[in-house]
Amino acid sequence: MPIKSMSSPFEHFNDWFGTAKTADIQDPTACALGTATKDGIPSVRMVLLKGHDERGFVFYTNLQSDKSTDLKENPRAAMDFYWPQLGRQVRVKGPVELVSHEEADSYFASRPRASQLGAWASIQSRPLTARTDFENRLVEYEKKFQGREVPRPPHWSGWRIKPVRIEFWQEGEFRLHERLVYLRDGDAWRTEMLYP
Ligand SMILES: Cc1cc2nc3c(=O)[nH]c(=O)nc-3n(C[C@H](O)[C@H](O)[C@H](O)COP(=O)(O)O)c2cc1C
Repeated sequence: MPIKSMSSPFEHFNDWFGTAKTADIQDPTACALGTATKDGIPSVRMVLLKGHDERGFVFYTNLQSDKSTDLKENPRAAMDFYWPQLGRQVRVKGPVELVSHEEADSYFASRPRASQLGAWASIQSRPLTARTDFENRLVEYEKKFQGREVPRPPHWSGWRIKPVRIEFWQEGEFRLHERLVYLRDGDAWRTEMLYP
């Protein structure tokens, strides 16, 4: 039976993501994130989805990391979720924007203190000569913020992918999979099926 299209890809994502959250999946928010340099050299790595609504799909990271450097010079990205227990894949792509300071502050405040300190101490994607250098930086920031809340570092925030294309893929027997794509069409979405 073909995948039934819904009124929007966001409703469809909510439906599939909701099912993934109740399935025996270690972390359904984990997804591969693809970026590229301005010359088009691609990179992919895992991130965690921390927000999604009609504005798009949000993850958080260091703004001086390689991925953020890519996104500053080439502000487009793709995300790929794979939920093997459900035989489902969801692919998202589109331009990116930074989330608002308020949104980033609010998410940062919800993180465990050790993760907050890690965001200060990690110079993400830069060479690390010895693990102790990182541990010493952690101790430095523990001292610096002792007895008070850890503020969000200026170099740490969220990126939102504003989708122009979302594809829902359902595994079928004998590789006769189903693919339903939503494509942004002005303010609306149109759907099409693809050969597997
Ligand atoms: C399951 C999983 C989830 C991850 N989630 C994040 C994340 O949300 N944000 C992040 O900055 N790095 C996350 N990482 C680490 C990244 O994959 C990556 O190592 C790091 O962000 C540096 O990437 P870059 O050098 O391309 O910027 C995660 C790794 C794994 C395996």
